[in-house]
Amino acid sequence: MTRCDIHPSILSADFSRLGEELQRISDADAAHVDVMDNHFVPNLTLGLPVVERLQRVSPVPLDMHLMIEDPDRWAPAYAEAGCASVTFHAEAAKAPVKLARELRSAGAKAGLAVRPATPVEPYLDLLPELDMLLIMTVEPGFGGQSFLDVTLPKLRRAAAAVEAHGGTVALQVDGGITEETIVRAAEAGADTFVAGSAVYGAQDPAAAIAALRDTARR
Ligand code: DX5
Ligand code: ZN
Repeated sequence: MTRCDIHPSILSADFSRLGEELQRISDADAAHVDVMDNHFVPNLTLGLPVVERLQRVSPVPLDMHLMIEDPDRWAPAYAEAGCASVTFHAEAAKAPVKLARELRSAGAKAGLAVRPATPVEPYLDLLPELDMLLIMTVEPGFGGQSFLDVTLPKLRRAAAAVEAHGGTVALQVDGGITEETIVRAAEAGADTFVAGSAVYGAQDPAAAIAALRDTARR
């Protein structure tokens, strides 16, 4: 595995002091920011006005995960705000190719996410339009859930397709990533790991990031 990126999710950070919480993960490859609209998922987090401000102070690139309806309408603004990558859900996008192209032309990496029960095969033709494919390893909506091993065969099939495409697309997993489960996700071919509670629930987030990275590389 050449790429091995750790993206702590600020969903598990202290929302009353997000700027400082971002400083605590300055060793990470990016900060994963979960936008939830209370429609696509039954939870509500933050949106563009907050992200624009975080973007200005963050020591690491922002990796946006949009769990929202109508990403075709709302996602490009996150790319225009300077976010490094913008991932939208396959289940919500009306015109995913058009949207991915818009994100890229606004200077962001384009990501496509699938929920645990959504097959990945219908979307593999889109790989040339994408910089990242996100296989959700929990039902989106909340941090602190248990990793769903049932997603591993899909992750393996996605990894094979990414490899056949030339390995340029990052393969991200999100949900239930710990020092234990990251081994199975890495073995199945993931190379970009989101971790919320495993990083922000730790005494020392920098040490937790290093431990996850070391374990995934082993
Ligand atoms: C869940 C979010 C995740 C969440 C992961 O819907 O997309 O990014 O923060 O949290 P953990 O790592 O605690 O499962
Ligand atoms: Zn996420």
